[in-house]
Amino acid sequence: MSKIEINNVYKIFGNNPQSVMPMVKEGANKEEVLEQTGHTVGLDNVSLKIEEGETFVCMGLSGSGKSTLIRHLNRLIDPTDGEIIVEGTNVMSFNKEQLIEFRRHKMSMVFQRFGLFPHKTVIQNVGYGLEMQGKALEEINKTAMEKIEAVGLNGFENQFPNQLSGGMQQRVGLARALATDSDIMLMDEAFSALDPLIRSDMQKQLLDLQSELKKTIVFITHDLDESLRLGDHIGILNAGKLVQVGTPVDIIMNPADDYVKAFVKDVNRAKVIKAKIIMKGTNDSDDIDKTNLIKVNEDQFIEEFLPLIVCSNSNCEVVDKSGNVKGYISNKELQTSLTKS
Ligand SMILES: Nc1ncnc2c1ncn2[C@@H]1O[C@H](COP(=O)(O)OP(=O)(O)O)[C@@H](O)[C@H]1O
Ligand SMILES: [Mg+2]
Repeated sequence: MSKIEINNVYKIFGNNPQSVMPMVKEGANKEEVLEQTGHTVGLDNVSLKIEEGETFVCMGLSGSGKSTLIRHLNRLIDPTDGEIIVEGTNVMSFNKEQLIEFRRHKMSMVFQRFGLFPHKTVIQNVGYGLEMQGKALEEINKTAMEKIEAVGLNGFENQFPNQLSGGMQQRVGLARALATDSDIMLMDEAFSALDPLIRSDMQKQLLDLQSELKKTIVFITHDLDESLRLGDHIGILNAGKLVQVGTPVDIIMNPADDYVKAFVKDVNRAKVIKAKIIMKGTNDSDDIDKTNLIKVNEDQFIEEFLPLIVCSNSNCEVVDKSGNVKGYISNKELQTSLTKS
């Protein structure tokens, strides 16, 4: 069972969403629906699965439906049609009390504009979710301090948000989301308002935390580099439709359509693809000349050995940590695949 399953979800905004469903199901696109009915298609037949412990990145241009999608997960938005299953339970089946429980314990959210309480200190902000869970003050403060330390903000616990930089405020937002110990974390453009260097720091911090915590993270961004760095899987939305789901390598090597191609066209493939991804297996590589092979590790990024093989005009032998041969890479094929668009 997947941690989260989204099955054929449609979301139409407007006065009478049900009335336009037949038209949408028959294939009318977002533009046509708006023009003919004045309704906006937020999501159009989106289905996807998110596995426990993975970071699933949802990417797309502004207005493509990313926020609409993530808000279905904690029922800030109800679908016009389709179902959202979290840990085997349809979120539409919750009554009011169950929904409150679900939001307090199951999911936490980190927002683009930090969403901190200006009149509360850092430690009070971080402890807020625990306060809502009805925990005792002593426990709240203990847990809040742990999370403050985890995001590197010790010493700032009694400051107010307006005394902190943007990057630090977002660390508070992250610490607050971590404090409730929910196993699903929703992050909607959480780093998009930060300067590039600070943003890169935050990505690193999230990766470090995630390597220990193994939460299920749904991360939204319109930035390809961020998607590639953070995502185990990436789903790409265009005008409410999910046009591709795949690993970073799938997305880069086999973009599903022109929209995805436009996203990946400037990416440096050599920087994000490892030797093992592009090698040919030992049984499948008779056509590769094995004289003067250059040895590379299966987990090396292409970038690290590309200059060497280009200069020497040699093919590669790919080995694992113990030196066992796992496959071969043809110099010529490698260079063609890197320039493929
Ligand atoms: N409450 C709403 N009422 C009407 N239209 C909305 C509402 N929320 C979102 N939309 C529309 O749905 C589409 C998807 O929006 P959104 O999910 O916010 O996109 P993204 O987060 O990818 O920028 C957009 O066309 C937007 O205008
Ligand atoms: Mg959005």
